[in-house]
Amino acid sequence: MTASWPHSCSARTPFHLAVFVMTAVAFTSTMTQNTSEIMCGFISQKDEGSEAPQTSVAPKVPNILEDLGCYLNSQGTENIYQTIKNVEVNVFEDIELRITMSIPNIISCFWFFKKSKACELSFDSENRYITSLAFSQIKEGQAGKYTLLVTSKSGNYRVVVPVLIQKKPAKPYFRKRDKSDSIECISESYPQPSVEWIFCKTPEKSCPYKRHEETGEIDGKQMVQHELFQTYIWCCAVNVLGRECTSLFTIDLNERQAAPFPELLLKVSEPLLIRCRAVHQNYKFRIQLSFENREVEQGCHFEGLEYQENFSAIRIQYVFVSAAEKNYSGHYTCSSTAHPNQTALITVLEKGFINITDSKEDFEIGEEEFCFEVNFTAYPPVRCMWLYSNRTFPCIQSYSVGGHSISSKFCNHQHQSGIYVFYAENDDAVATKKFTLYVRRKPEIRMQLLFKQISCVAEGYPASSWVWRNCLELNSSNCAEEITEGIQNFLPERRSLGSWISSSTLHVKETATTFSVECCANNSAGSACEKRFINLSVAGAVSSPLDNAAFYVSVGFFLLLITFVLVFFFLKYKKQFKYESQWQMIQMIGPSDNEYIYIDFREFEYDIKWEFPRENLEFGQVLGSGAFGKVVTATAYGINNAGDSVQVAVKMLKEKPDTAEEDALMSELKMMTHIGSHENIVNLLGACTLSAQNKMKMN
Ligand SMILES: *[C@@H]1O[C@H](CO)[C@@H](O)[C@H](O)[C@H]1NC(C)=O
Ligand SMILES: *[C@@H]1O[C@H](CO)[C@@H](O)[C@H](O)[C@H]1NC(C)=O
Ligand SMILES: *[C@@H]1O[C@H](CO)[C@@H](O)[C@H](O)[C@H]1NC(C)=O
Ligand SMILES: *[C@@H]1O[C@H](CO)[C@@H](O)[C@H](O)[C@H]1NC(C)=O
Ligand SMILES: *[C@@H]1O[C@H](CO)[C@@H](O)[C@H](O)[C@H]1NC(C)=O
Ligand SMILES: *[C@@H]1O[C@H](CO)[C@@H](O)[C@H](O)[C@H]1NC(C)=O
Ligand SMILES: *[C@@H]1O[C@H](CO)[C@@H](O)[C@H](O)[C@H]1NC(C)=O
Ligand SMILES: *[C@@H]1O[C@H](CO)[C@@H](O)[C@H](O)[C@H]1NC(C)=O
Ligand SMILES: *[C@@H]1O[C@H](CO)[C@@H](O)[C@H](O)[C@H]1NC(C)=O
Ligand SMILES: *[C@@H]1O[C@H](CO)[C@@H](O)[C@H](O)[C@H]1NC(C)=O
Repeated sequence: MTASWPHSCSARTPFHLAVFVMTAVAFTSTMTQNTSEIMCGFISQKDEGSEAPQTSVAPKVPNILEDLGCYLNSQGTENIYQTIKNVEVNVFEDIELRITMSIPNIISCFWFFKKSKACELSFDSENRYITSLAFSQIKEGQAGKYTLLVTSKSGNYRVVVPVLIQKKPAKPYFRKRDKSDSIECISESYPQPSVEWIFCKTPEKSCPYKRHEETGEIDGKQMVQHELFQTYIWCCAVNVLGRECTSLFTIDLNERQAAPFPELLLKVSEPLLIRCRAVHQNYKFRIQLSFENREVEQGCHFEGLEYQENFSAIRIQYVFVSAAEKNYSGHYTCSSTAHPNQTALITVLEKGFINITDSKEDFEIGEEEFCFEVNFTAYPPVRCMWLYSNRTFPCIQSYSVGGHSISSKFCNHQHQSGIYVFYAENDDAVATKKFTLYVRRKPEIRMQLLFKQISCVAEGYPASSWVWRNCLELNSSNCAEEITEGIQNFLPERRSLGSWISSSTLHVKETATTFSVECCANNSAGSACEKRFINLSVAGAVSSPLDNAAFYVSVGFFLLLITFVLVFFFLKYKKQFKYESQWQMIQMIGPSDNEYIYIDFREFEYDIKWEFPRENLEFGQVLGSGAFGKVVTATAYGINNAGDSVQVAVKMLKEKPDTAEEDALMSELKMMTHIGSHENIVNLLGACTLSAQNKMKMN
C-alpha cells in the first residue's frame, strides 16, 4: 500500500529523507552484528468497498506479505526493534501483523496494546518462531502502537509496530487555549488534517469569510483570536479522505430561537466550550452566562467587547471547562440587560450512544428511483457503512440544521432485491438496521410443448397470474378468444427474495391438428406473452430415441425434489453418507500455475431458462444409486424441439433431502450451466428445481 501524503506535507520532505537515511544506516550496522533475527510483516485484504452490488461474489484474493523493515534500534537489557515502514490501512480493512523470529527458546511472548495479551507461537518451514495478530475489519480505536514483548533464553526483545488508520478527519472540537483568551480547534486523524475556520452560516467551501491554516507542528490545532466575535464560527478539518465541520455552540441573543434550543451533548472528561453573543446599538449593556441560575465559577469564563463602524457593540462571553463532569449537565442561560434571555441544555453523558429512529424496513419498488434512509441520533459521532451481500458501501451522513438528528441515505442498490444493512459504530455503541428490498419485475416466460400439453413457466416479482388465449388465424397476432378449460395453474413458488416462479399447463382437447395459442403472465410490474403455432401431427409423432442416440449421448441433469419413496434404499443407506458439494471450479487468474481462485457456485444465480416441466419426463430404469439419491433413465418430451422426445439420464435427490444436499446439487447444476455444452462431456439439457409439495397439493 502506498502512502498518499497531503500536499501540505511536501514541505517536510527533507525531514523524511533524513529518517530514511538514518534508519538505513542503522539497518546496515545491525546487519553486520548479525542481529536481524526479527522480521516484521503485514498482510492486508482489501474489500473493493465502493463497487456496485454484483450477483456473483468473487472470493477475496489474499494480498502478499509486505515487509515492514524491522531493525534493531537499541540494545541493552532489552533489544528494541522498530519498523522502517508504518502499517497504513483503511478503516474496516482486514489485516494481519506477522512477526518472524530467529530466536532460540522463547520463554514468554505478549502483545501489548492498551492491555496485554498472550501471543500464540508457531513455527515456519525454517523452524523460526512466528506470531500473528489479526484484525477483522479494523476499527478506529485499534489504531496505535502495537508492542510485542518476548523473553527468551538469549535475551529480551521488544518489537514496536505502529498501525495507522487512514480516515477522513474526526469531527473537530473546540477548547480554550491554555493561558490565553482564545479558542482552538482540534481534529485528530491520519493523514494529518489541516484546519479551516469558516464564518458563514453554513460551512460551505465557497464561503468568502474563512481562514485556511496549514497545520504546522501542532497536530490539527489552530487558534482564533479576533474572530471570537463572528456571528458564526465553524471549524472544518480537511485531509485527502474528507472534510468534517463543527460549529461553535453559541447562544446568540440577536437570533430569535423558534424551537427550544438544541441540546449540546458531551462526554465526561471532554472539554466544554460555549459562547453567549449579543449586539446592541451602544456598548451600555451587559451579558451574563449563568448555569442553573447561578453564576459560573471564576476562572471558567472570559469575555470581550468589540465596536462596529456604526458604534454598535458586540459583547461575547465564553464559558469553558477543560474536562466536563457529570454535574455540568443542566441549563445554561444567557441573559442581557438589553435582550430577552435564552437558555440551552447541555448534557454530559457517562457513555456514548446511538439511537436509530424506527422506520419502515420492507420496501417494494418498481423502476422508480429509491433510496433507503435512516435517521438517528448519536454521540460521539459515528462511523457508518452500508452492507449488501457481504459488500460494504460508503455511508454519507448529513446533519439536520442545528439539531442532533443525523440522516444517511443509500441509493446504490441498482434495483437488486435483497437485504441491505446499515451499520454504525462509535467508541461506545454499535447499531444496525436491516432493510429488505423487493424489486418488481415483469414476468419472463418460457413455453414448453409436448404431446397435447403446453406448459408455461414465468419468473418475476410479485407472482404472476395466467391467461391463455386461442389465436384466430394460424399465423396471427390476433389472439382474442380466452381459453378457460383444461388449464392447470400451479401455486407460485418463491425462488429467491425477489423472485417468484409461476407455472401453468394447458391440456389441449382440440380436434384440429393445427392451431395457435398464447399464454400470458401478468403481475403488477407488467405482463408478458408467449405464442406458438402448434401442429399436433408433428407434435404427436414422437421420434425414436435410438435414431438420435448419437446426438443425445448428452445426459440430462435434474434436481427432483419430488421422487418416489425408495424405502429399501433409504433404510439401508440413510445417514451413512452425506452428499455435499464436492464440485469446485478453479479459475486461472495469472500466467503461472498457482495463480488461481476457487469459484463457489453457491453464489451463482440459477437461470430459469433451464427449467423443464416435470410432467414431461417419463422415468425408466435406475442406472445407479447412492446415499444421496439416484440416476435413472428417462424420456423427456419436447426438451429440444416441440414434439420430439429425447432419451436422457436424470440425477435426482432422495425423497427428503436436507439443505446441504439441495445446495450441493444446485451447485453442480449451476456449474454445468456455467460450463456450457461441449461434445466430449456430459451435457446439461434441463432441470426441474421446483419443489414437489405444492404440485402434489394441486394434483
Ligand atoms: C548469523 O546469521 C547466520 C544466518 O542467519 C547464522 O547461521 C549464524 O549463526 C549467526 N551468527 C550469530 C553470531 O548469531
Ligand atoms: C451596524 O452595522 C452592522 C454591520 O456592520 C449591522 O449588522 C447593524 O445592524 C448596524 N446597526 C445599526 C444600529 O445600524
Ligand atoms: C462538579 O463537581 C466537581 C467535583 O467533583 C466540582 O469541582 C465542580 O465545581 C462541580 N461543578 C459544578 C458546575 O457543580
Ligand atoms: C434573565 O436572566 C436573569 C439572570 O439569570 C434573571 O434575573 C432574569 O429574571 C431573566 N429574565 C427573564 C425575562 O427570564
Ligand atoms: C431513542 O429515541 C427514542 C425516541 O426519540 C427515545 O424514546 C429513546 O429514549 C431514545 N433512547 C436512547 C437510548 O436515547
Ligand atoms: C428522516 O428525517 C427527515 C427530516 O426530519 C424526514 O423527512 C424523513 O422522512 C425521515 N426519514 C425516516 C426514514 O425516518
Ligand atoms: C457473508 O459472509 C458470512 C461469513 O463471512 C457468510 O456466512 C454468509 O453466507 C455470507 N453471505 C453472503 C450473502 O455471501
Ligand atoms: C407466419 O407469418 C410470417 C410473417 O408474418 C411468415 O414468415 C411465416 O412463414 C408464417 N408462418 C406460417 C406458418 O404461415
Ligand atoms: C393482471 O391480472 C389481474 C387479475 O389477476 C387483472 O386484474 C389485471 O387487469 C391484469 N393486468 C394486466 C395488465 O393484464
Ligand atoms: C403439420 O405437420 C404435418 C406432418 O409433418 C404436415 O404434413 C402438415 O403440412 C403440417 N401442417 C401445417 C399447417 O403446417
